[in-house]
Amino acid sequence: MAVGVFDSGIGGLTVLDAVTRRLPDLPLVYLGDNAHAPYGVRTHDDIFNLTCAAVERLWAEGCDLVILACNTASAAALKRMQETWVPKDKRVLGVFVPMIEALTERQWGDNSPPREVAVKHVALFATPATVASRAFQRELAFRAIGVDVEAQPCGGVVDAIEQGDEILAEALVRSHVEALKRRMPHPEAAVLGCTHYPLMEAVFQDALGEGVKVYSQANLVAESLADYLTRRPEMLGTGTESKFLTTGDPKAVSSKSTQFLRRRIEFQAV
Ligand code: DGL
Repeated sequence: MAVGVFDSGIGGLTVLDAVTRRLPDLPLVYLGDNAHAPYGVRTHDDIFNLTCAAVERLWAEGCDLVILACNTASAAALKRMQETWVPKDKRVLGVFVPMIEALTERQWGDNSPPREVAVKHVALFATPATVASRAFQRELAFRAIGVDVEAQPCGGVVDAIEQGDEILAEALVRSHVEALKRRMPHPEAAVLGCTHYPLMEAVFQDALGEGVKVYSQANLVAESLADYLTRRPEMLGTGTESKFLTTGDPKAVSSKSTQFLRRRIEFQAV
């Protein structure tokens, strides 16, 4: 049994880590499409084609269930994949729904009609492609009414984090928060809708102010996966070992990932 975890690059390792903490015995096959990262500035067609190719590769590893641990792929490609492409015996799940269920205080899979919820003003921070997709607003509208969402495309932050330039990443986060606050001065909640942003969570929180509840998705996704697997244990595939695959240069990706997560990670070529 193994579950696939896909990301455009190394950011999804934040999700993988949370899943490993929650389900320590579950083998996970991680695939980073580093050769084509970042996805956040690509077209939706491009993101769809790249994500499908990567998911097929994870199915070949015996992972019948694949988590898209990438907000950009979840936002720009997942709905189309589920509607037109995923065969009946496979599942592809994204990272948006668990976060929206937490925000709207819903149990997993609660499909009752949308209702009023406690939060009324939500700030979304994400990549330009995620913001352009409006997937967050669409999924939210299925579950909640009367919630005002202001989305801020955070250009440059992923690159600065990947380059290890913390000073630049912090300055960019602060300027994106300022830009958002000019349009929505008093958000009640903020959603960090990109795999890299949990690493900057303290800066987001500081720039937003103490009263704003910041939702970071890694733990929410891990919890939701654990819940899913107790309901659908047949989705545990046939793979047996954890591994890290990349479409990029395994040496370079391993060393960047080790720096990113502060523990040794060995990638192999797909
Ligand atoms: N992993 C992507 C996400 O969560 C960020 C990196 C990218 O742009 O590819 O949106």
